Amino acid sequence: MSNREQHEQSHSSAKKKTMSRRQFLSYTLGGAGAFMVGGVALPMIRFAIDPVLQKKTGGTFVKVAQESEITTEPKEFKYQIHQVDGWYESDPVRTAWIARDQNGVIFALSPICKHLGCTVNWNTHNDNQYFCPCHEAKYSIDGKNLKVAPAPLDEYEVELRDGWVYLGPVKPNSRV
Ligand code: FES
Repeated sequence: MSNREQHEQSHSSAKKKTMSRRQFLSYTLGGAGAFMVGGVALPMIRFAIDPVLQKKTGGTFVKVAQESEITTEPKEFKYQIHQVDGWYESDPVRTAWIARDQNGVIFALSPICKHLGCTVNWNTHNDNQYFCPCHEAKYSIDGKNLKVAPAPLDEYEVELRDGWVYLGPVKPNSRV
């Protein structure tokens, strides 16, 4: 082998070594960089989607009144619910008008007027109707809209357990 051939061979093996060192470095640095970015990004992604992963607690039932208190005359009950909405937790007070129908079935209506959201009251004018003082909407005892409001009062889901009335989420009125 001539001197020139030997020189070229040693040069090419040196070149090969340099290339593999570069690759090694780029893989190592790339891997370390990806690991560091992942270490920062993953907790941020987890934090961002955390509310989606959490079980919603707004749909639970709350003990509100004794069954024996409920008559065919609607009564107003106030109760507190624990609500989790994303990162925000709160304990708002809710109001329900609870009554029995002619068959003794207990039902509960939301007091939120379906016109513009004021609060209705029962029998304000001794006419056995719900009345909204804001624009004078009227509803029947079952929550049927009689005047001004475009829809019936919403209803709460009701469960009866051990002589107690439990109220759950609001649902569209199923009685009218
Ligand atoms: S908000 Fe009740 S009548 Fe307008």
